[in-house]
Amino acid sequence: MANVFTRMGDWVNERAPNMMPAYRKHMTEYYAPKNFNLWYYFGSLALLVLVNQIVTGIFLTMNYNPSAAGAFASVEYIMRDVEWGWLIRYMHSTGASLFFVVVFLHMFRGLMYGSYKKPRELVWLLGMLIFLVLMAEAFMGYVLPWGNMSFWGAKVIISLFGTIPVIGGTLVEWIMGDYLPADATLNRFFALHVIALPLVLLLLVVLHIAALHEVGSNNPDGVEIKKGPKGNRWDALKPADGIPFHPYYTVKDLVGVGFFLMIAAFIIFFAPTFGGWFLEHDNFIPANNLATPAHIKPVWYFTPFYAILRMIPSFLGQAFWGVLAMFGAIALLFALPWIDVGKVKSIRYRGTGYKVALGLFVLSFIMLGAVGAGVTAEVIPEWFGDVDVTFWENLFGRLMTLVYFGYFVFLWLYTRFGWETTKPVPERVTTHD
Ligand code: HEM
Repeated sequence: MANVFTRMGDWVNERAPNMMPAYRKHMTEYYAPKNFNLWYYFGSLALLVLVNQIVTGIFLTMNYNPSAAGAFASVEYIMRDVEWGWLIRYMHSTGASLFFVVVFLHMFRGLMYGSYKKPRELVWLLGMLIFLVLMAEAFMGYVLPWGNMSFWGAKVIISLFGTIPVIGGTLVEWIMGDYLPADATLNRFFALHVIALPLVLLLLVVLHIAALHEVGSNNPDGVEIKKGPKGNRWDALKPADGIPFHPYYTVKDLVGVGFFLMIAAFIIFFAPTFGGWFLEHDNFIPANNLATPAHIKPVWYFTPFYAILRMIPSFLGQAFWGVLAMFGAIALLFALPWIDVGKVKSIRYRGTGYKVALGLFVLSFIMLGAVGAGVTAEVIPEWFGDVDVTFWENLFGRLMTLVYFGYFVFLWLYTRFGWETTKPVPERVTTHD
């Protein structure tokens, strides 16, 4: 048997001699730092979820009907009549939320260990592009079941473009293809969601990993393993602190996959709507352009940005400041490698100011998420009784918006004017053994 495999391998190698070297470059001879911790699971988990979304998406497409008249009923048909349709749909809808959980944690790891800094700026920029496309992909997917929140969500989000001076109105019509979200809107969103954006996502992910493999992975110590002492190894390609990605990290990543699948299965089988956070109650009602839901709000992963949009008041008669701030909140993340010019990468050796600032930044992001999701509007009267809810919610939301943007301002000043007192970074990565 082994002989058959060897001969098959030889046959392929003779005809495609660059295939094995490419495999070696990215797997068995890709030397990754030996001190990866739990935070390094999320890249491979993001890949896993991406594959899940594509595979379950293909099966959903087989029975979904992309028309305003038939979409809602076709999703119900998938849920009730298609063999295993409910499982496929819940795997896809749960996958969407878990995608964002995984990607947010993956990004947070980047912030903690300074993985966006030189020489990995390109890895970060490609990651941010992935993030943008992922948000567009999720938004369009959410419209497809043509539930009432799909309809009104699409209306509100597309209407944001209407705040752009001069071209706003025309742009909104152009995007919708009608005066309201309708068949034309649904059809183009379907085309973008099932083929165009997934293709772009896949391409960006390949580039993201290719860019990472050019420079090599960062690690929890922020030590460049290709520089400095090479220890017992003999060249820069086999650094002393590196271990082959395959089999060491393929096996380690499987542990993460195991845990992740247990959590995912628990949600899919026992709490697929996750209390209305993953699938909203208003979306189990068919789209109705005459009945606006009581609280139009996006799915949880958009709520921090949605809160920023809502917290910025109209100014000088223009409503687009909120839209500008919302996009600015994302644009600043793109610019992070040039805002934070501190030399030390990992939070382990950075100044206290950085640790506090990152903590506050994460807190502001979560709190803005709560504001955007309407949690504060519920909690304020419960905790504080008969108070002016809008006033206090706006005050809190604006404070959190300030903290969010303050992070970038602080980092800019902190790392440029020598305010940061860092600890010495070790020459080699540290381990606990
Ligand atoms: C579909 C989404 C994504 C996939 C499949 C993906 C995949 C990966 C993989 C497999 C790695 C190497 C393993 C690891 O370090 O965890 C990685 C590294 C990295 N990713 Fe992503 N990624 C995604 C989104 C993002 C986003 C949104 C960002 C941030 C804007 C980002 C930033 C980074 C950075 C900075 C690294 C290098 C980390 C280091 O070496 O410390 N990625 N990504």
